Amino acid sequence: MAFLIAAAFLTMSAQPQPISIIPEPAHVEARTGAFHLNSRTSIYAPDSLGDLAHYAQRCLAPATGFYFPIIDHRGPNTIEMRLDKHAEKLGPEGYFLEVDKDRVLIHAARPVGLFYGFQSLRQLLPPDIFRKARMQREWTAPCVYIEDSPRFGWRGAMVDSSRHFMPKEFILKFIDLMALHKLNVFHWHLVDDPGWRIEIKGYPRLTANASQTDFSEMNPTMAMRSINQKPGGFYTQDDIREVIRYAQDRFITIIPEIEMPGHSNAAISAYPELGNKQELEAAGIPVNFMGSYDNVYNVEDSTIQFLKNVLDEVMDLFPSKFIHIGGDEVWKEPWHENPKVQERMKALGLKNEEELQSWFIKQFDTYLTSKGRRLIGWDEILEGGLAPGAAVMSWRGIGGGIAAAKSGHDVVMAPNSDTYLDHYQSKLQSREPKAIGGYLPLSKVYAFEPIPAALSSEEAKHVLGGQAQLWSEFIPHPKHMEYMAYPRLCALSEAVWSPKSERNWQDFLTRLDVHLKRLSVLDVNFRPLNEDPKPVGQWKNGEVNDKFADKEWDITPALTNPGDYDVIFSYSWGEDRLDIQWIEIREDGQVVQRVEHLGRTGADNKDNAYRIHLDHIKPGAKYTLRASVRADGGDKSNGDIYIVPAR
Ligand code: ACM
Repeated sequence: MAFLIAAAFLTMSAQPQPISIIPEPAHVEARTGAFHLNSRTSIYAPDSLGDLAHYAQRCLAPATGFYFPIIDHRGPNTIEMRLDKHAEKLGPEGYFLEVDKDRVLIHAARPVGLFYGFQSLRQLLPPDIFRKARMQREWTAPCVYIEDSPRFGWRGAMVDSSRHFMPKEFILKFIDLMALHKLNVFHWHLVDDPGWRIEIKGYPRLTANASQTDFSEMNPTMAMRSINQKPGGFYTQDDIREVIRYAQDRFITIIPEIEMPGHSNAAISAYPELGNKQELEAAGIPVNFMGSYDNVYNVEDSTIQFLKNVLDEVMDLFPSKFIHIGGDEVWKEPWHENPKVQERMKALGLKNEEELQSWFIKQFDTYLTSKGRRLIGWDEILEGGLAPGAAVMSWRGIGGGIAAAKSGHDVVMAPNSDTYLDHYQSKLQSREPKAIGGYLPLSKVYAFEPIPAALSSEEAKHVLGGQAQLWSEFIPHPKHMEYMAYPRLCALSEAVWSPKSERNWQDFLTRLDVHLKRLSVLDVNFRPLNEDPKPVGQWKNGEVNDKFADKEWDITPALTNPGDYDVIFSYSWGEDRLDIQWIEIREDGQVVQRVEHLGRTGADNKDNAYRIHLDHIKPGAKYTLRASVRADGGDKSNGDIYIVPAR
């Protein structure tokens, strides 16, 4: 009997995995049988593809224990990589992957296609193939025929290394994971108010003085200090070169972002002559905006020159065509108050600070263009007119993207509603690590459509693609960043790679089940799949006001088993958060539980969960939730109530 079970187990384990590739390829035909990866396997590639063949060899070695030989002819059990002009029809990044019983053939017009074909092959093997330790000697991949190419050429992810410095090792791992998901643009937010993170040889104080802080330092009340992590840090130019090389080997372009003219407090703190504070103080104007912030560059020639010098060093490091200059949330107050800025504005014949911002951005558009590069910035750069070659990253929804595309500018869709991975993944916020706010569940990222319906097919050609954002104000640690990134970045990868017709939420979830095993093996701290339950009740505009009053909800269907539960109030939208004084659970009108404490919903959720214990559920009884609630300040409040098992 034991023998029979063992034999059955062996047969089962020899079965290939179901095909679960993320992002879903454009075309997949399952075939019968399996390819065996074992001691007889070799990699067949011409010398010209040596780097790729070695990459494949290194990827497969740890878990198999074999450094598969790289040979120049077809062997009995080869993984073949071949450049093939016929594959041009799949576009620059496309590939064919044919897995037969006795060989694997990846062919593509360019090395990048072969690279993606190999990523798909890795995902045909069991998740353990991603382990760093030797697992077994025999592996199987199901026979299959795949034709694949991406829907968009810009498949991006942005990491904010300024608000909380992210160590180089984390950045390398992040890039590796991007490659696994066939993402190809790493947008690196290197500079912002809390810290300057890139070594600039000409201005050593940028890193000496302005890199040793992080967001927590600037907001001590938020107590967000990184765990086991010194505040701050920066990347040397050698670090940057190493990261760029690493990304290039994985066909990922790094777009550096040097924020201007706003979000520049770090630079100004190191070189105060770049800001406005001195002029304001000299003119007797108190500097009291946003506490000690002075976060807008002035418009002196010397400041413009400083930024050009910084960009020169940045361009020496980063070969990307696009250079991101930020341009978002430029706070006009310091310009409005600074007499020297006002003087310059008039001399330039500009009517207001919006036009001044446009002038500022145009200086750098001209400069970058003269160096053979292209400027890209957040959608505020559209205000006041945009330089001809500039591209726009649409973050305040899709309006900026639509306007940019309609006026003939290229655009990357990065709407905060769909792609801001710093937002909460659940409405049960008290059960999540503190986030900046918002609500962006996995399903919504999956449904992200980069081409706005308002665009004609001609205008839509200006949409280069889409991108996810990981702002780090509330992400103090790399493991926490992984939690925010995954699995939502898996969903985004499919939104920007797979044909619209192949996207299917249920099918994605089935594949994700296998994919999460891969991420687990890769030691990625992803958020476990856990969609929010249905709410048991709601409150809406006009149903509550600023005086505490009792409200009641029928919760009978939600209570099927005795036990401990949390009753959680979750604010969704409006102007007035909901406050709670007490709650009661009533059984046929009789109070069976009462919990009293002040709870608050909204951006600063506090004590908004009420723990209840039900020692029985009476069949046929009606259960109600009663609570004393008010909306803070008015009657514009909307939200949901959840009852979830306690933990
Ligand atoms: C942004 O989120 N301020 C681009």
